[in-house]
Amino acid sequence: MRRAAFWISAAMAHSIVTIDDLSNDDIEAVFGLADRFLADMSPEGRLRRIRGRCSLAQDHVLATLFYEPSTRTRLSFESAMLRLGGQYISCADSKVTSTVKGETIADTVRVVESYADLIVIRHPWEGAAQVAADYVDVPVINAGDGGHEHPTQTLCDLYTLRVGDGRAGRRTLKDMTVVLCGDLRHGRTVHSLVYALARLGARVIPLPASPDLDFPEHVRRRLSRDYNFVPLDVAELPDASLPADVLYITPEKPHQLSLLESDALNVSIKLLTKKEQQALRDIKGVDAFYATRLQVERKEGDAGETSYPVIDREFLKQKPYRHSQVMHPLPRVDELGYDVDEDARSVYFQQAANGVPVRMALIASLLELVPAALAGGAGRRTNYRVYERPNTLRCSNANCVTAQPSEQRYLGQKFWLVGEAMPTVRCAYCDYEQEPKVISSARSKRYRLDVSSWKSISADDLALFESEAQALAAGYQAKKLTGREATATQSI
Ligand code: NCD
Repeated sequence: MRRAAFWISAAMAHSIVTIDDLSNDDIEAVFGLADRFLADMSPEGRLRRIRGRCSLAQDHVLATLFYEPSTRTRLSFESAMLRLGGQYISCADSKVTSTVKGETIADTVRVVESYADLIVIRHPWEGAAQVAADYVDVPVINAGDGGHEHPTQTLCDLYTLRVGDGRAGRRTLKDMTVVLCGDLRHGRTVHSLVYALARLGARVIPLPASPDLDFPEHVRRRLSRDYNFVPLDVAELPDASLPADVLYITPEKPHQLSLLESDALNVSIKLLTKKEQQALRDIKGVDAFYATRLQVERKEGDAGETSYPVIDREFLKQKPYRHSQVMHPLPRVDELGYDVDEDARSVYFQQAANGVPVRMALIASLLELVPAALAGGAGRRTNYRVYERPNTLRCSNANCVTAQPSEQRYLGQKFWLVGEAMPTVRCAYCDYEQEPKVISSARSKRYRLDVSSWKSISADDLALFESEAQALAAGYQAKKLTGREATATQSI
């Protein structure tokens, strides 16, 4: 049975499903706490590594439920819990859980919540962590849900951006320019990161490995609707002032070159030819470079990528990257050369090490082991009205948790009404947006194809469909047009 009025219960635990579940102040509070853990628990000379244990979480148990491979995220959560003096229980392989017997996410987490005080979940379906959060009373942390979001990696990224390698003092994220590079389409790390950077007032330059690996439409729409934010296009920038503090990279394709396709720079998209390398050298002011791996496991169809660019020492010699911090969420494959490891600009291992103090701070905050650290989410979700009429619209994303037959036993569709002039909806689980083609009053069951009048139907009576056929299949009939409407339709 579906939990009544989920999502609006005031008593619900604070879960971190999307980066927007943390306000900018919350993020600062988590970082302040991470700073304190590092100050108290890192040995001299190894400034950025936690050692020893405290007793803050001695009465608590953390559960890690990982339905996808992980090294850093799971182990750093478990290490963080141990360093806090707590215990953890772990499912690192979904094949040994009751999922193989057909158990649903909602059932699994309702069982696990009686064994643990906090659940960390990684799952291949977009929206799975939201389902988990909706069905338990303990906090849930999203450790990556398909290609959707990975908010705690973003915390590690932002913390690293803020402190770098620890030698240069704290940097402000506002006005920082970050280049996100590689597989921006499927990479969940760059999705959470771009939302956070947008909110924090940073500039973002996307450098997709190829046009089909650029940010998906729903990410760009959310950036624009929720944060009034448009990523920069490198071609719009004068070549002498291209600013960037960070560039996120990925393996195997000539991603950065796609953004260099500009008449001003006179560069074409191909492999890194000498001329293109020269063009890169001519760009001044790139402060950093963030790379990401090609997400082969999420790529639809042929995954036979051949020419992903490699970021190596030679590449980083180019003038624009002189002061670039080099970041990567790891694991790397071929996109980031081992010859960069010794370079002072490389901070990716520090980024992974920061996972422990940052996750300690998050766990301690969510379990309320420290005085009221978190005030609440950024409020994105409360701004939109909910649409969840059964047997009408379905989310268009085949990898959404709501599209899975096992979860459809109990899970309905749920959308946010994000459109104004048109009835645009956004899936409340995976964030995909769609524009219904048919509107109706649920009471009269008469549908119309002119969706622009959708606001004339009250929210609690509104029924939306993807197509006329879907409306007919649901037992709705075409609305008879009034004389005036018919004349207007004829004249179109
Ligand atoms: C990332 C992930 O799982 O999304 N890894 C991580 O958590 N550090 C990035 C990746 O797998 O490419």
